Amino acid sequence: MTGPARREERLDPERFPIDDKRVYDAYIAGRKSAAIAAAVRAGLFDLLAGGACSFGHIQSEMGWSLRGTRSMLDALVALGFVEVLADGFTASADAAAYLTRGAEGSLWGLVDMEVDSFLSPAALLEALTKDKATVYGGEDPWAAHEADPVKARAFTAAMHSVSERPAAGVAERLDLTSARRLLDVGGGSGALSIALAKANPELECVIWDIPAVCPIANEYVQAAGCEGRVRSQPGDMFAEDYPTGFDTVLLSQILHDWSFDTGAGLVAKAFAALPPGGRIVIHEKLVEDDDSGPLANQLVHLDMLVWTEGQQYRVSELTDLLERGGFTHVERLRTAGYWSVVHGLKP
Ligand SMILES: C[S@@+](CC[C@H](N)C(=O)[O-])C[C@H]1O[C@@H](n2cnc3c(N)ncnc32)[C@H](O)[C@@H]1O
Repeated sequence: MTGPARREERLDPERFPIDDKRVYDAYIAGRKSAAIAAAVRAGLFDLLAGGACSFGHIQSEMGWSLRGTRSMLDALVALGFVEVLADGFTASADAAAYLTRGAEGSLWGLVDMEVDSFLSPAALLEALTKDKATVYGGEDPWAAHEADPVKARAFTAAMHSVSERPAAGVAERLDLTSARRLLDVGGGSGALSIALAKANPELECVIWDIPAVCPIANEYVQAAGCEGRVRSQPGDMFAEDYPTGFDTVLLSQILHDWSFDTGAGLVAKAFAALPPGGRIVIHEKLVEDDDSGPLANQLVHLDMLVWTEGQQYRVSELTDLLERGGFTHVERLRTAGYWSVVHGLKP
């Protein structure tokens, strides 16, 4: 044979006129999250963040097969979360910062929870038809946390890892120097309260959450050394009026858990509990009004479908909600990364 065995032009360019790469890339995205979640659960990034490791050492520490170790390392190197050095494999800077256990602001808890509560196509299909939280087989997630301390702890750890870094962004951007007492409704681990108390030395915060979460929140508060000014208080934001005596009410990632109508009820309760001049602060990953993104925030709709009764908000939906609830001077403030607060004053 002479000459190259290659044609310069496709035989039938009309046959597949549209590029398939965007579809293919969306299809493989689940492999990316499966790979990092499995590596996080196995402790691979914790191992590699400690210094370069040989292939053999990784295989023996992980307890993986030869083929498994090779496949996983190939995938993670391709994704850029593992780097190959002359003396072995190491974690990339972002994997070491955000995929290891215990690092401040790490997303470890969130990614680790994917192993047990993965947003799979099957889970999504079920949620689409049932229109209720399906993540725990149809059980109300908050009732499940109340009944099972292991679930409550895993969820609160996941929320802490979601919120720790954004909380620092709120503390940097939102001026609460005149605030003295903040009620953190559904405050979870207290990530927001801790960051705000640290940034505002005269601020006291109360994390108001279901009874199962309060002792867990206390552990986070203690670990942060904030026991003097941050404490938890068990309660039920639906069955009870909000506690009074607070000049600031914070709802971080609460409204997205509930329908728009239920959200309006939660805002009304905040309005009733605040004194004139008091401030409401809503912290969310908002979708822009022209639906231009960010994609990460738009996809929160799907997480909410599987986990909750809610959906993510657009900026104007949240602004309207506060204005209809009687709040004035309503303003959207971008804080960190994908995050914003919308805040307003009770006249
Ligand atoms: C999505 S998490 C947000 C946690 C925290 N605010 C943050 O941003 O990290 C929702 C929180 O609402 C709490 N929650 C659910 N139902 C509640 C209720 N009826 N009363 C008080 N808190 C509740 C949950 O336990 C959980 O901690």
